[in-house]
Amino acid sequence: MRVLDHVGIAVASLDRRLALYRALGLEVAAVEEVGSERVRVAFLPLEGTSVELLEPTSPDSPVAAFIARRGEGLHHICFRVPDIRAAMAALAAAGFELLSQEPRRGAHGCLVCFVHPRSTGGVLIELSQPEA
Ligand code: CO
Repeated sequence: MRVLDHVGIAVASLDRRLALYRALGLEVAAVEEVGSERVRVAFLPLEGTSVELLEPTSPDSPVAAFIARRGEGLHHICFRVPDIRAAMAALAAAGFELLSQEPRRGAHGCLVCFVHPRSTGGVLIELSQPEA
């Protein structure tokens, strides 16, 4: 069975938005900068999954573009997969549009890939293979 690795939420300011999640009883386990996406991310673990808050570190970050276009809010959902290349090949073969042809290095050293929301009915889907 697949695991919902995390839910990604775009925020303009981590510091400002953390108050909400702390009030909900969540704690920050790690804050890390992901250079490939030009974001700073905070992971807040829950039973079996996490909330990932993404704050852009540069105006040319994809998350900055998302916030400019749609405002802060729900950004993506991430499924954990055991073999990201096999998962990408299966999606491509089924006609879904991947945002990159090769997996990229995401948070915690995971290999990640995104499926374009125009091929998924509007949901940005991330696949993540834990670091081996
Ligand atoms: Co993510």
